[in-house]
Amino acid sequence: MKRRQFLTLAASTAGAALLPQCASKRAVETLPQYFTSTDGLLDVTLDARYGAVNLANQRPFLLSYNNQVPGPILEAHPGDTVRIRLINHLTAPTNLHYHGLHIPPVEKGDNPFLEIPPGETFTYEFTLPENHPAGTFWYHPHKHGLVAEQVFGGLSGLFIVRSDLDQIPEIQAAQEAFLVLKDFEIDASRKIAPPPPIFQMWGREGQLITVNGQVNPNFSIPTDGLLRLRLLNASASRFYRLKLDEHPLHLIATGGGALAEPVELSELLLSPGERAEILVSGEREPGRYRLLNLPYDRGVTEMMNGMIERGMMEPRVDSAPQTLATFSYGDRVDPLPLPKQLIPVEPLPKPTQVRQFTLNHGIDHQTSAAFLINYKGFDPQRVDTSVPIDSIEDWEIINAASMNHPFHLHVHPFQVISRNGKSEPYRAWRDTVSIAGYETVRIRIHFKDFVGKTVYHCHILDHEDKGMMGILNVV
Ligand code: C2O
Ligand code: CU
Ligand code: CU
Repeated sequence: MKRRQFLTLAASTAGAALLPQCASKRAVETLPQYFTSTDGLLDVTLDARYGAVNLANQRPFLLSYNNQVPGPILEAHPGDTVRIRLINHLTAPTNLHYHGLHIPPVEKGDNPFLEIPPGETFTYEFTLPENHPAGTFWYHPHKHGLVAEQVFGGLSGLFIVRSDLDQIPEIQAAQEAFLVLKDFEIDASRKIAPPPPIFQMWGREGQLITVNGQVNPNFSIPTDGLLRLRLLNASASRFYRLKLDEHPLHLIATGGGALAEPVELSELLLSPGERAEILVSGEREPGRYRLLNLPYDRGVTEMMNGMIERGMMEPRVDSAPQTLATFSYGDRVDPLPLPKQLIPVEPLPKPTQVRQFTLNHGIDHQTSAAFLINYKGFDPQRVDTSVPIDSIEDWEIINAASMNHPFHLHVHPFQVISRNGKSEPYRAWRDTVSIAGYETVRIRIHFKDFVGKTVYHCHILDHEDKGMMGILNVV
């Protein structure tokens, strides 16, 4: 059966989303629903609730959409209308953000200012532009002050846009897998353990690391063929430094969509909120290969050292690689080479304006925030940055401290121009970029299509909740 046919089938039976695993019964039972648009309409109900769900062969009490962690996979095409009924069965307000989608930041579109009270239902409705890039996007709650808790509690899901990238013959013929990376911390009563205050400072992490809600699941690489991985870091704070035993990673798309050609990497750093699409070539000896998460210090060691001196805590950076998933070789297919060309990534013209955004922690007495952009904490009443429509700007994101901050801008995709003055090795569209300690990253943005207010923030969600967010108004 061809992948396309399978997808259609999977959608119509609301069943198996993890295509490479579809043969395994156990895997199928734990797979999320897969909803695809039909006749130009994606029509879905997401029920946000608290209760016992399947996760890692346990039944912990989590926050979920439709009783599934991760949430259903949604799929649409450019030009489609998307209608999502969000039922809030939580005890707190919530909403939805469509991370990475290029859609209007208005009432029923990508509106992080909306608040849906407990017990109420809200129907989102928007149209994907005809020229929307193909890519791996996602949805999650964005109610300021509760984002870390709700995402860490389990709320998030993939949003796939299929278009030109998916029609490239080698990619169309590749087998496809979805990998949602997410960590949890479950206590003895099977509930999400509330993070100690210090963890909220550097961003909550859990010791239970899952891929699609499973511990070390299996994926199959077609022998002689290609496996396309769509990776999402849906963790509230954890970074993943990914490496696949004996296989290079052929990067074909970043968070904002396709690259111009595949880029070969030996490892890949995926910060919270980021996505990547990878081709794995089934050209090694059949066997089992581990997808590893290598140790990575996101700048907490320097922060902790100060605290250890003051007797406050033990160090807690993982020191050994962890196995996230296992890949084994499956059926032999007709030899499938890597594609040579993907989708052009046009360079952006020179900017008309350069702005600076300094990320730091401290105290803003006005908002009593601890995580700051340009020395201010988030204030929902204040517009921080006003930009005329159709302008091109360079934003210099300056990290004034030791911790990484993944900087994220809603609605308007950007290209990274340079890091510490050194230009990027390849051009790519992104919506999130990790800024290492004391690093300055220059991004270029064309505010091409949509006027209105939206936000930029650190995607370590505790930092966002604690003030590291600003309002952009495109006028
Ligand atoms: Cu995924 Cu404003 O965030
Ligand atoms: Cu976002
Ligand atoms: Cu941060």
